[in-house]
Amino acid sequence: MTPQIEILPDADRLAEAATGRFLQSASRAVQSRGVFTVALSGGSTPRGAYSHLAGAQALEWGKALVFWGDERCVPPEHPQSNYRLARESLLRHIPIPAGNIHRMPGELEPEAAAQEYERELSTVFSGNAVRGSQLPRFDLILLGLGRDGHTASVFPGSTALSEQERWVVAQPPVGDGPWRLTLTPPVINAASEVLFLVAGHDKADILRRVLHGPRDPLNLPAQAIQPSDGELMWLLDAAAASLL
Ligand code: 6PG
Repeated sequence: MTPQIEILPDADRLAEAATGRFLQSASRAVQSRGVFTVALSGGSTPRGAYSHLAGAQALEWGKALVFWGDERCVPPEHPQSNYRLARESLLRHIPIPAGNIHRMPGELEPEAAAQEYERELSTVFSGNAVRGSQLPRFDLILLGLGRDGHTASVFPGSTALSEQERWVVAQPPVGDGPWRLTLTPPVINAASEVLFLVAGHDKADILRRVLHGPRDPLNLPAQAIQPSDGELMWLLDAAAASLL
C-alpha cells in the first residue's frame, strides 16, 4: 500500500485538513454501519485538529465511539494524559455521550490496564472483526510521529513490534517518562484508515528517514504501520515535509 501524502502550508491548514478527513471517515462509517469507531492520538500535534474538529457541527457524535491509540500510565487529570488532551480540546465541547468515550485506564497498574482495555475492545468490536480474523477494525486511527521514529507508544526496539497476539500492551518508560499503554501494530494495521499528523521542522529529518529511508521498522516503528486492507494517509505541514 503506497501511502498517500498531503502537504499543507502550516499547522492551521493541517488541522483543517485533518478535520476534513476525520469527518469523511465518520460519514462513510455511519452511512454504512450506523457507527464510527476512532482511536485518537496523543502528543501535542493533534491538539489543533481536535480544537478545529470541536467546532465542526457536521458529525452525529452520538454515533461516534472514541478510543485511544495509546496513553501514558497516569491518572486522567494528569497533565501528561492523552485523555486529558482530548477532553480539554475536543470532548468537553461536543455532545458525545459519556458511554461513547473509551478511555485507556492509565491509573491502573500497566499490565492490568492493558488487559482491561483489551477486554473493552473485545466487547465493543465483537461484531466488527476484520474478515477472517478476530482483530478489531477501527474506522480511523490517528497517529503522530516521534523524533525517534516511534508512533503511538511503539518505541524503537519495542517488543510490541513483534507482537502478533495482543491488541494492547504495556510499554516500559522511555527516559524519565511514565509507563505507556499502546495498541499493537496488528490492530493499527487492521484499521480501515490510518492518518498520521506530522508538523514542525523538528520532524523533517525523521520523516524523511521513515518515508524515504531504508526499511528498518525495528528502529523506525512508524514504518511498521502498513494497513493490510485500509488507507494510509500522511498529513504534513510544509516544515515537516521540507526534506522530502
Ligand atoms: C504520545 C503519542 C506519541 C506522539 C508522538 C508525536 O502519547 O505522545 O501518542 O506517539 O504522537 O510522540 O508527539 P508530538 O505530536 O507531541 O510531536
